[in-house]
Order: sequence, then C-alpha cells, then structure tokens
Amino acid sequence: MGIKVISIFGTRPEAIKMAPVVLELNKHPEIESKVVVTGQHRELLDQVTSLFRLKVDYDLDVMKQQQTLTELSIRVLSGIEEILLKEKPDLVLVHGDTITAFVASLAAFYQKIPVGHVEAGLRTYDKYSPYPEEVNRQMIDIVADYYFAPTEFAADNLRKEGKDESRIFVTGNTVIDALLWVTMQDFPFINKELEKVDFDNNRVILLTTHRRENWGKTMEGIHEAVRQLVEEYDDVEVIFPVHPNPVVKQVAEKILGGHPRIHLLEPLEYRDMAMVEKLGCFVMTDSGGLQEEAPALDNPVLVLRDTTERPEGVAAGTLKLVGVNKEDILREARILLDDNDAFEAMADAKNPYGDGTASQQIVHAILQMDLGEKMSI
Ligand code: UD1
Ligand code: UDP
Repeated sequence: MGIKVISIFGTRPEAIKMAPVVLELNKHPEIESKVVVTGQHRELLDQVTSLFRLKVDYDLDVMKQQQTLTELSIRVLSGIEEILLKEKPDLVLVHGDTITAFVASLAAFYQKIPVGHVEAGLRTYDKYSPYPEEVNRQMIDIVADYYFAPTEFAADNLRKEGKDESRIFVTGNTVIDALLWVTMQDFPFINKELEKVDFDNNRVILLTTHRRENWGKTMEGIHEAVRQLVEEYDDVEVIFPVHPNPVVKQVAEKILGGHPRIHLLEPLEYRDMAMVEKLGCFVMTDSGGLQEEAPALDNPVLVLRDTTERPEGVAAGTLKLVGVNKEDILREARILLDDNDAFEAMADAKNPYGDGTASQQIVHAILQMDLGEKMSI
C-alpha cells in the first residue's frame, strides 16, 4: 500500500522551497501526494504555484488585508482540521517558520498525524527576533516527528534539544533546488521595468524589507540609509520589489519614492528575482530565503537584522550581519562599494546551503520511513 503525503504551505517563501519537494514526491507512484495551500499570501503565493505548475488540491484562501496573527491562526487551524479529517494522510509536510507552518503542524498533531518539518533546526534563541518566526519554528520542532535540517549546524541545534538522531536528516536547503530549476536557462525579464535598469554600467543593489520586528521607525531608518547611499554614489541603482503589505509599502514610497535610480517595483516573479540576483552587485535584505539563495549566485548579502538563524552563511563569509542602525548599514554598504577585495571575498565565499539535491534526499528519507498504521484518535 502506498503512503499519502500532504504538503501544506501558504506564503511565497514556503511555496518556493516546497515546490521542488512536491515535484519530487510526484515522481514516485508509491506516494499519493496532495497539496494544501492556506492562501496566507494571495498574489505572492499564486506567482509561485503557477511558475512551478503545482496542482493545488485545497485552497483555504485565508488572506485578509492586515489581519492579526490570532485571526490568521484561527482561520488556518479550523480550515486544516477539516481537510485532515477527510484526507487522513500518513504524513504532513510543513516548511520553515510561518503561521501557516506552525498552525498546520499543530492541526496534524491534534489528529496524531506524523509531521515532517522541512528546514528544521534554525534558531536565534531570541524570542522576538525574528518575530513571530523564531517561536513558530521552535514550536514546530516540538510537534514534528521528522526533521529535515538544511545544515549540520541546524541539525546540532536539534540534537542539543534532545531530538532523536534517527529522525534528523541533513539534506541542504530546498531553495537551492528551486533556484537551479529557475536558472537552468536565461529568460528575458517578465517585468519590463527591469529593462530600464543599467546592469552594464551601474552597480545594482537588490533591496527587500518586510520583517514585522522592523516595522515603523526601524524600517524608516533602513530606507533612509539606502536613499543616502544612492545619493552618495552616482553609479548605484537600487531594485526594491516592495512587499504588498501596506505597512511596508507606505514607508518605501515615502522615503525611497521619486528617485530615478531607485526602482520601487511590484513583487517580482521568482524567475525575474533570480535573474536580478545573477546580474546584480549585492543584496541588502531582512529576508530569510535571500540569505541562502543570493550567495549561490555569487551575490554578497548584507543582512538588515539584529539576529540571523543562518549563522552558517556568516561563518562562511557569504553574509554579513549588519543590524538595523542607519550608520551601520551605510558603513557596511560603503565597504562593499569602495573595497574591491572585501567585495570579492564575500562574492567568492562558498555558499553552505546545499547542492540542489535536498528534495531528492527528503523524499528518499520519506520512502524509508516506517509510518506504520495510522494512529487512532
Ligand atoms: C509572512 C510570514 C513571514 C515570511 C513572509 C514572507 C508569518 C507571521 N509571517 O509575513 O515569516 O517571512 O510571509 O513574505 O507567517 N499581502 C498581500 N498580498 C500577498 C501577501 C501579503 O496583500 O500576496 C498583505 C496583506 O495585507 C497581509 C499582509 O500583507 O495581511 C501581511 O501578510 P502576512 O502573511 O501576515 O505576513 P508577512 O509579513 O508577509
Ligand atoms: N522573492 C521573489 N520575488 C520578490 C521577492 C522575493 O520571488 O519580489 C523570493 C526570493 O527570491 C526568495 C523568497 O522570495 O526566494 C524570499 O521570500 P521573503 O523574503 O518574502 O520571505 P522570507 O524568506 O524572509 O521568509
């Protein structure tokens, strides 16, 4: 008898990183693979499911403009419960640290359905940074039965927390699988605004900011630093695909709008994003996924956060943890623009996040699992 695996995700980064896993699950006739999306994100999620041509079996469509974390959690929890009661899978897969991932793992646990956590073991051990993701991730790892850790470092966190070694699999990060998938060929830009960017003669910085703990004054300071940088260097251009959250959009437009060398764009299709990372000079971001992905395209990353759950990248030299203070951001960006050796050292450092086989390794591990009889509830 085959095994039924349900993959549940809801936001852009989860979709990017789960897409290669779902595509790999679909290759195995002994696995019945189903996809549930919560729709925590709407446009951002749909961009990814259509790019990877993922068949979605259930869509909870929970997004409401600026709903609270509580409202979001309630809607996801009750929606997932119903689907799991009907489908009775042998394994639920979740990814990362979002509300969707935590609440879906909780719903599975309530029905005693085994949970596999993709990208397990990342930690800052700082409850409010990133907020609420650090706590989501720790809670998922309490609920989970199988841990797919991207690196030995992440696996060590799990070991220190007493997780059973036989349930930990070090696989690399599936974001590299996704990236290889989209960069197999060069494509013309989908967003025609990108054709206005002078990649040949200017130094192009990719900027993204969205973290909740940076909302307000902190995010304003980050954006002010970027504006000042562009004013100081005539050959610097900035591409900023702005997160659709109104909280982020308003600050971006207020501080970075109206400058000819700052391109405030709609969220980019993942394929465009990868091309920008390939052609650009460096990345300034508070994103998690970009810390793993941009260095694979030789792009140094300045991390605009106080903590990172990706210390392997800092140790490898691909990432620099800059913090969120305006002067610190300016200083570190000027170093990359003025000091070619410092730039090359980061660009040439080896990315520690895997070789593009993470999804294969995860599915191989699933096929070896003794998922046994479904537990009765
Ligand atoms: C979520 C995740 C975060 C992840 C990020 C990736 C949580 C708590 N946060 O944060 O871990 O890093 O996704 O982007 O799970 N919106 C739209 N259209 C979209 C997406 C968002 O309009 O396609 C707007 C809505 O007003 C929505 C708001 O953005 O309410 C915030 O979305 P939400 O999912 O709560 O949080 P993110 O900040 O995107
Ligand atoms: N991304 C994208 N288009 C954009 C911005 C980001 O495709 O306009 C991709 C990016 O390449 C990375 C992922 O989205 O793979 C990161 O997602 P995000 O920063 O939203 O979330 P985080 O990784 O911080 O959870």
